[in-house]
Amino acid sequence: MISMTDKELILSALKARENAYAPYSEFLVGAALLCKDGTLYTGCNIENISYSGTVCAERTAIFKAVSDGKREFSKIAIVGGKKDETISAYPCGICRQVMAEFCKGDFKVIVAKSEEDYEEFSLSELLPKSFDF
Ligand code: THU
Repeated sequence: MISMTDKELILSALKARENAYAPYSEFLVGAALLCKDGTLYTGCNIENISYSGTVCAERTAIFKAVSDGKREFSKIAIVGGKKDETISAYPCGICRQVMAEFCKGDFKVIVAKSEEDYEEFSLSELLPKSFDF
């Protein structure tokens, strides 16, 4: 059964998705990141006409948190899809590598269609053998 905290995290991601700026793909993504100290950061995707200037929802949330001095995270919830339809929006490779920069392998990634319908992964499942030196 989903814990209250996970449900709240998914609801926060859904709320953050309302701010998604995605005029090119129309694919709206929201993310909610829980810091180990209990602080919550949300993010949405922010597209750019150059395309490559686009930032994903997960990285928006992580960069907001890191720029506020946070470095330790326990989990992230992600919700994505066009208009009113959400799909399982698994994090892209760049976001996985950014997660690996700050999070340990046991960092939990919740990919949700709604607060009732979701999947949970560890970061090491999503990004085994991440780049490191
Ligand atoms: N997107 C995210 O926000 N997160 C991901 O992990 C994958 C893709 C966004 C980027 C772009 O604005 C839209 O989804 C379509 O690729």
